Amino acid sequence: MKSLVTGGAGFIGSHLCEELIARGEEVFVVDDLSTGSLDNVRHLRNNKDFHLVVGSVLDDTVLTELTGEVDRIFHLAAAVGVKLIMDRPVDTIETNVLGTEKVLSLASKHGKKVLVASTSEVYGKHRDHTLSEIDNMVLGPTKKRRWAYACTKALDEFLAFAYHEEKGLPVVVVRFFNTIGPRQSGQYGMVVPKFVKSALLGDPITVFGDGTQSRSFTYVKDAVRAVLMLMEAPAAEGDVFNVGDGREITILELARRVRSLTSSQSEIVFVPYDRAYGKGFEDMERRAPDISKIRKLVGYGPSVGLDEVLGIIIRHMRDAGIGETSAHRAL
Ligand SMILES: NC(=O)c1ccc[n+]([C@@H]2O[C@H](COP(=O)([O-])OP(=O)(O)OC[C@H]3O[C@@H](n4cnc5c(N)ncnc54)[C@H](O)[C@@H]3O)[C@@H](O)[C@H]2O)c1
Repeated sequence: MKSLVTGGAGFIGSHLCEELIARGEEVFVVDDLSTGSLDNVRHLRNNKDFHLVVGSVLDDTVLTELTGEVDRIFHLAAAVGVKLIMDRPVDTIETNVLGTEKVLSLASKHGKKVLVASTSEVYGKHRDHTLSEIDNMVLGPTKKRRWAYACTKALDEFLAFAYHEEKGLPVVVVRFFNTIGPRQSGQYGMVVPKFVKSALLGDPITVFGDGTQSRSFTYVKDAVRAVLMLMEAPAAEGDVFNVGDGREITILELARRVRSLTSSQSEIVFVPYDRAYGKGFEDMERRAPDISKIRKLVGYGPSVGLDEVLGIIIRHMRDAGIGETSAHRAL
């Protein structure tokens, strides 16, 4: 089996490539390295079944060639994360909408199955229940830039279902909830790598707002397992699935947990959203998935708890030399 992974040099994409290679499959990656990096796939690059093309999904020539080559496509390339959306809205909207349109139209032309990565952001501002695939989207106004990311991904979903229903293209849409693990960068505002790095360095751990907002965190290897289960389940075609972990934690509790697991003395400081993201920024108070649909269809459930995943991330960052001291080395 040959797979194309768009965004394969990114965080989730690199773990997906690793798993596909471990299964003896051939993997083609197209990645423009905007938020991904060669470091993420360095360990795969000598493998004869791994092929990396540094380029954009917006490039017709590259994408046409790769689509013709493979049996199926995992479309993960996107401009990701709230910070990026706030800083570079035009790039975000164009990459996420035009990139997905190109992938779907070429997949349709060549008759290749596609899995499209969407996000829990499409649910928007729900607060009183865990989120299931049939919930409404509750998004803010178009003048509030942060909602652009959710809108682009929602449009990707509409387009994927349109290709499925009108042109018979086999597609599956996954809505990732906050996914964490080694190789995730804190550079673009992702909370767990930022907290762990600050804790290891003894820097203040910065919590936006009052920290009572809650999230659920999924281990990246579980997310990859879910993606592969869904890609390989014919009954998943033409449908959308939450990929997450139903257990919730507040951001303040997360900061405390990270501090304790790293034995750090870092102070926890609170920064108003306005100061971090500009006036009028809206965040979601709560975001946790109902995963009964994916559980029922393919038997998926999370394999590890949050402390274990945090432990893996902490070890990975320490191995990379972050916050290394003689005391740590002795542990
Ligand atoms: N990590 C999460 O918690 C999370 C949550 C919800 C949804 N997602 C979705 O999962 C997918 C993967 O996200 P990630 O967390 O691995 O982020 P990431 O930023 O590490 O991965 C995205 C990859 O896409 C690449 N890319 C961006 N624009 C491109 C373009 N025009 N052409 C080719 N490559 C391009 C980047 O260089 C990067 O390697 C994205 O579609 C994202 O929206 C992730």
